[in-house]
Amino acid sequence: MSRILIAPSILAADFARLGSQIELMEAAGAEVIHVDVMDGHFVPNLTLGPPVVSSLRQATRLPLDVHLMIEDPDAFIPAFAEAGASWISVHMEVCRHLARTLDLIQSFGLKRGVVLNPATPLSVLDEVLKQVDYVLLMTVNPGFGGQKFIPYSLERISRLRKIIQHQNLSVQIEVDGGVVLGNVAGLARAGADILVVGSAIFGSPDPAQVFCQMQLLASEASGEIE
Ligand code: DX5
Ligand code: ZN
Repeated sequence: MSRILIAPSILAADFARLGSQIELMEAAGAEVIHVDVMDGHFVPNLTLGPPVVSSLRQATRLPLDVHLMIEDPDAFIPAFAEAGASWISVHMEVCRHLARTLDLIQSFGLKRGVVLNPATPLSVLDEVLKQVDYVLLMTVNPGFGGQKFIPYSLERISRLRKIIQHQNLSVQIEVDGGVVLGNVAGLARAGADILVVGSAIFGSPDPAQVFCQMQLLASEASGEIE
């Protein structure tokens, strides 16, 4: 099993100082940066597009995990890939031809992820699990940072972990929304591989310290550290 990762989400960072805040996370040991793209249609909020991803690409060597919360991902995947995204995930709820969309992401040599909203049943993954590198389980309804973790998500993570194990796949589970110091250990034990964290890190007076504390708690709980 690969190392469990805390992925800082820049949604909660100061957009005027993205470069320095990513540098801070990189120095603290982050191995991936989560980038939330919102279109004001699929979710009731707007964030950023390919030009910002392109600037982030110049600012860090870390992989950029681009989470597309947009209506028509196929129309924008090439631009995000060219801008420097390393991973791209798309919402199951908007993809009419998911297999084609996943192929499109793969054609740029990027990691492919599929995202499920909290109310979307895991059974929709039956046919596509073998075609993805990771599944992102939303643990809040997408659109905003700083929301409360939806408790039934924990059981969904363990259920998905069992499905992946049963099929002998190496698909990773990413979890996004409401991750705080108090639930990191439980999420790691349930079988998550990547924990996205926005406001708990960037809303704290000492983001690097919270990142390190979370990384340690997650690693301990997943059994990587005694
Ligand atoms: C929500 C976003 C999340 C968000 C998580 O739509 O997808 O990535 O940044 O933020 P927190 O950790 O504040 O819940
Ligand atoms: Zn996200």
